[in-house]
Amino acid sequence: MNSPFVSTHLTEAYDGSMSEVLHLANARLVLSDRVVTGRLLIVDGQIAEIAEGESIPGGAVNCNGDYVLPGLVELHTDNLERHMEPRPEVDWPHLPALLAHDAELASTGITTVFDALRVGSIHSAKVGYGAYARKLADELLATRAAGYFKISHFLHLRAEICSETLLAEMAAFGPADRIGIVSLMDHTPGQRQFRDLTALKTYVAKKRGMDDADFAAHVANLKALQKRFGAKHEAGAVTEAKRYGAVIASHDDTTAEQVATSKANGAEFAEFPTTPEAAEACQTHGIAVMMGAPNLIRGGSHSGNVAASELALAGLLDIVSSDYVPAALLLSAFRLAEMWDDLPRAVACVTQNPARAAGLCDRGCLATGQRGDVIRVAMGDKTPLLRGVWSLGKRVA
Ligand SMILES: [Fe+2]
Repeated sequence: MNSPFVSTHLTEAYDGSMSEVLHLANARLVLSDRVVTGRLLIVDGQIAEIAEGESIPGGAVNCNGDYVLPGLVELHTDNLERHMEPRPEVDWPHLPALLAHDAELASTGITTVFDALRVGSIHSAKVGYGAYARKLADELLATRAAGYFKISHFLHLRAEICSETLLAEMAAFGPADRIGIVSLMDHTPGQRQFRDLTALKTYVAKKRGMDDADFAAHVANLKALQKRFGAKHEAGAVTEAKRYGAVIASHDDTTAEQVATSKANGAEFAEFPTTPEAAEACQTHGIAVMMGAPNLIRGGSHSGNVAASELALAGLLDIVSSDYVPAALLLSAFRLAEMWDDLPRAVACVTQNPARAAGLCDRGCLATGQRGDVIRVAMGDKTPLLRGVWSLGKRVA
């Protein structure tokens, strides 16, 4: 869990134009190790004071006992894609898509996001994944530089190692690109996420309108790509991640052997290990385990892999990611809190643990000197009701 990674390009200076004083009082503050009734003061974008007690000083907001949590930190979301292509083959203009994505995340309590962009393109029967990451990264970084975003954005490059163009695409990125995470992905059929070919067939063949012959050709092509590029591209992607100053994540590890390889690659956290065996091996190696919030909420994985709740009950879950449902992140924290009877531990899975795994030390907990990213949450019928979201002390939802 302890990331040695601290990079200056991952810190953000407070922008004076955002100057606001925020004073939240009579709140149940979810600290790292306990919940206390008290007040929290944010000045110039930073948490300046935390005090216990029920007093409500002049000018402070009376939270009426609502919870105040650190803003949520999301390490792996495909949500931007949904805004870029709201229906299959429908391209939406990019700036409005970026802004709608940013606003949606803010509205669900996420104040830091690592936007996942795929690098490495594949062309197969009826499947064509072209290169798009560099262009979209430029647009995203320009939108951020213009000050248009409500929340804090970083990039997460999803490196498809079994693809022809991976290293050429990665060569176009550098240390100035705010790449916080590089995840090493191998989606070759018959292993990891797609051990069960039936599940893959349902997922891909339906989506792409393939018949049996198309699907067989697609699988054969992917297996050939793995043979040709797998080992070389895995090593190349690790080198590139180090050049960017990014943290490395593994993806869909299934066996203890794969986890050992991830450790050797320097992985800080594991995205969606697919078996208890892999999650246990992660714990042994000090690799934080991330699971998807939709898996936790729905009670299982849509591709037939281990249930997040099973890992949670076994003490093998450190980080939750909203994956493809942003609003699932906050919900999953309260679901875990119920399961564990421990709200601070559950909240850490969506705040402090992901922040530290990605090398961010300036956010993720309620403590003086931390970024003023906080959310206010009431409870209704065991469901969290978001009452307010602040990024650098500025209200964004
Ligand atoms: Fe995957």
